[in-house]
Amino acid sequence: MDKKRLIGPFKQLVPMTGLSLKGAIADDALAIIPDGGVLVSEGKIEAIGTFETLRTNYSEAETHPLQGNHTCIPGCIDSHTHICFGGTRANDYALRNSGKTYLEIAKSGGGIWDTVTQTRKASKAELVKNTAKLAKRHLKNGVTTIEVKSGYGLSVDEELKMLHAIKETNELVGPDLIPTCLAAHMLPKDYPGTAEEYLEEISTVLFPLLKEQQLTNRIDAFIEESAFSALQIMPYFQKARAMGFDITVHADQFSTKGSKVAVDFKAISADHLEASTELEIQRLAKSDVIAMALPGATIGLGCAFAPARKLLDAGGALAIASDHNPGSAPMGDLLTQASILGVFEKLSNAEVMAGITFRAAAALGLYDRGRLEKGYLADLSIFHTDNYQEILYNQGNLKPCMVWKKGELVYD
Ligand code: NIG
Ligand code: FE
Repeated sequence: MDKKRLIGPFKQLVPMTGLSLKGAIADDALAIIPDGGVLVSEGKIEAIGTFETLRTNYSEAETHPLQGNHTCIPGCIDSHTHICFGGTRANDYALRNSGKTYLEIAKSGGGIWDTVTQTRKASKAELVKNTAKLAKRHLKNGVTTIEVKSGYGLSVDEELKMLHAIKETNELVGPDLIPTCLAAHMLPKDYPGTAEEYLEEISTVLFPLLKEQQLTNRIDAFIEESAFSALQIMPYFQKARAMGFDITVHADQFSTKGSKVAVDFKAISADHLEASTELEIQRLAKSDVIAMALPGATIGLGCAFAPARKLLDAGGALAIASDHNPGSAPMGDLLTQASILGVFEKLSNAEVMAGITFRAAAALGLYDRGRLEKGYLADLSIFHTDNYQEILYNQGNLKPCMVWKKGELVYD
């Protein structure tokens, strides 16, 4: 049997327990444990409490003693990324900053299609290499679970190549990679038929292969002027639902059709929401759909932030993710972006931390991580500070000094 291990002491242990999935959270609801410790066994948390009590109660445990000031939070969860891709879009970035819009660039042949072309040229091995490099960067920022979308293949074979690359990368890197099929990212420019025919082909040919090859349990679609309409996506989601896939939506990024589809189809999350108005905010907040803000896309495109404060005040569940992708969100630094969203949207530390831990986990259908409590994965992000507030206050510049994944030290 695997040996028990006691990690600590931490000046502050922030377990994120006892907090609800929905609604606003005040900082004083964080049940911080001073001089805390985490007892780990077989990759999971066996107990949390004060370090000294755990040392007395579990004297057989091997201790991993820390010197100096440390604060421990759950390993962070980036619940929306596109880190599997080929090439770069530095030119799009320059064009946007010279005045062209994201949609104008997309229409003139740049945008997502540019990355599709470059991703199709890349071999699966090259995609694995690129994705692993970015996943390791996220790990250094304290991220222990990363959702990764396909969506730059846009044919049955090329989507399969991407999803196999994501699966292989998952075996190589510290963080867990959670794959999502985003074959409905846009109508591929080389597709000989209509959008309806493309979606029909993907759902009848690719969906069964995703199940057979155990590539993903999640289907995403981009509902937008430059991609697919709500009407086109409805039969696609009906098929996905009937086959038991979880549904997630790129919704309300520039216009407001997507979040209603997310609510109607009981999607697990509706992501982006920069264009959501009071109507969409109320509708989302009343539903069980997790609303996901993507401040990386706001920073990358120079547009509005999702109305995170209003969503929380209306009683919604708010996750925060980086949207790390070569086009709209090239930075890929979850802590920096989440702390900046907090500043602009006036979110408490607790709300921001919930958005990148247990609320992000729920957006992926995962209830075994994102909190530090008995039975949860021993995924820990540890910072050199005696005060948890310093983490967001430093706006991403206070990096973790140590990261544990399933009870193993994966970064220090
Ligand atoms: O989430 N909005 C659509 N998809 C991505 C952008 C992908 C890209 O531009 O390559 C997003 O922002
Ligand atoms: Fe995205």
